[in-house]
Amino acid sequence: MEAAVVEIRDIAGHAGQEVVIQGWLYNLRESGKLLFPLFRDGTGVIQGVVVKAAVPPEVFERVKGLTQESSVRVTGKPRADQRAPGGFELDVSEVEVIQRVPPEHPYPITPKEHGVEFLMDHRHLWLRSARQRAILGVRHEIIKATRDFFDNRGFTLVDTPIFTPAACEGTTTLFEVGYFDEKAYLTQSGQLYNEAAAMAVGKTYCFGPTFRAEKSKTRRHLTEFWMVEPEVAFAHLDDVCKLAEELVASIVEKVLEKRRPELKVLERDVAKLESVKVPFARLRYDDAVKILQEKGSEIQWGGDFGATDETILSEQFDRPVLVTHYPAQVKAFYMATDPERPELALCVDMLAPEGYGEIVGGGERLADYDELLRRVHHEGLPQESFEWYLDLRRYGNVPHAGFGMGIERAVAWICGLDHVRETIPFPRMLYRLKP
Ligand code: 4AD
Ligand code: MG
Repeated sequence: MEAAVVEIRDIAGHAGQEVVIQGWLYNLRESGKLLFPLFRDGTGVIQGVVVKAAVPPEVFERVKGLTQESSVRVTGKPRADQRAPGGFELDVSEVEVIQRVPPEHPYPITPKEHGVEFLMDHRHLWLRSARQRAILGVRHEIIKATRDFFDNRGFTLVDTPIFTPAACEGTTTLFEVGYFDEKAYLTQSGQLYNEAAAMAVGKTYCFGPTFRAEKSKTRRHLTEFWMVEPEVAFAHLDDVCKLAEELVASIVEKVLEKRRPELKVLERDVAKLESVKVPFARLRYDDAVKILQEKGSEIQWGGDFGATDETILSEQFDRPVLVTHYPAQVKAFYMATDPERPELALCVDMLAPEGYGEIVGGGERLADYDELLRRVHHEGLPQESFEWYLDLRRYGNVPHAGFGMGIERAVAWICGLDHVRETIPFPRMLYRLKP
C-alpha cells in the first residue's frame, strides 16, 4: 500500500507509520555515513535522517549534495525526538527529487545575511524563509479574526469598487488611470460607498486593497495596502471608538491564542501584546497637544501630528490610545463637527503602542446636506462626481459613523516589525513595483 501523504504539522499523529512528505529541501548537513536533510512543506519543518547502511545506495547519493530548495517527495517514518524542533525526526527510506536546483545556479537566498534591497528584489523567493512564513501566518490570522469579528456581529460584507470617479482622502495621493475616454482614480478608501451600503443593510464592512500615491519614503506607508472599513447607521463617535477597540483587542487575543509559534519565530515580546485589553486609553487632541509640548514637540494647536508625535503619544500607554476631536481643518471633508466646538471634528485615530503609529482612522460622518455641499466645493471636488453621495443626505439621512483599519499597520505592530514592507507579500512603495 502507498504511504499516505502527510503535512508536517500533522506529523505527531503518524509516529512510527510510513508517510510521504512533499516539500523542499531547506538545509542539508552531511556527516560521513549520515545525512541530515531539513525538509519544509509550508506547514512546518522536519529534520530527516538518512543512514547510508539503511537505504539503497542510489537514495543516499540522491540526497548527498542535494541543493537548497530542490523539490522532493520523501518517504519515511516519524520518530519522536525531544531535541528536534517540532518534536519529531524522520527516518528516511526514499527520496524522489522532483526538481534539483542546479548547483551552478544555486538558490540565491542562503542562510548568510543579505541586504534588504537584495531580499526585496527576491521577494518571490524570500517568502519561503521561516521569518516571512511566520509573518504570512500572523497576517492570515489578523484577517480572519477581523472578518470573524464583523461576521459574528451581524455586519454584511459589501464590496466597494476599486476604479472610482473621485477622491475620498484628499487629492494629493490619487493614482490616476485611463478609463476608456475618461479618467478614473484607484480607490483610496471604500468609505463613501460604505455609507451607501450602511443605509441599505445597517451595519456593513468592506475589505479590500486601497491605493495612495504616497511620495514619502517612510516605514509606515505603502502605495497599495489593505483596509477593513466598517460603517454603521445610527452610530456616533463613541460607538465606533468602542467598536474599534473591541476589534483590535479581539484580533490580538486571537493571534496570541493561535499564533504563538509564529510570534516566537519573530522574537515578539508577547507580554506587550498581552496587556492589550479593553478599555484602551482615550485622549482628546487638546490634551495630546499639551503632552507633546511638554515632551518637547514643536506641535502647535491646529497642526496634524507627525510620526514622531504619534510615537511619543503611544509610548505613554501600555495599550493602544484613541485620540479624538482633532481640528476639523486637518481631517477629511466628510467628517462631522462637534456641535459644541465646531472647529473640532468628531473623529478618532487609534495609535498602536511601541511607536507603531496610527492603525485606525475614522469617526462620525457629516450628515448635514448643505454643509456637506459646501465642503465638497471648499475642497475643490467636482460636485457631479459626488451627486450620488449627496443623495444619501437627500433620502433617509441618518447619523452614521465608521472607521478604517490598515491591515499592514496592524501586522507590523503585532509582529513587531520595523517596516511595513514585510507585512504584505508583494509590497508596493515609492521605489518598489517589482517583483
Ligand atoms: O486614516 P485613513 O486615511 O482613513 C480613511 O481612509 C477613512 N476613509 C477610513 C474610514 O473611516 N472608513 O486610513 C485608515 C487607515 C490608517 O489608520 C492606516 O492604518 C491605514 O489606513 N493607512 C495606510 N497603511 C499603509 N500605507 C498607507 N499609505 C496608509 N494610509 C493609511
Ligand atoms: Mg488617518
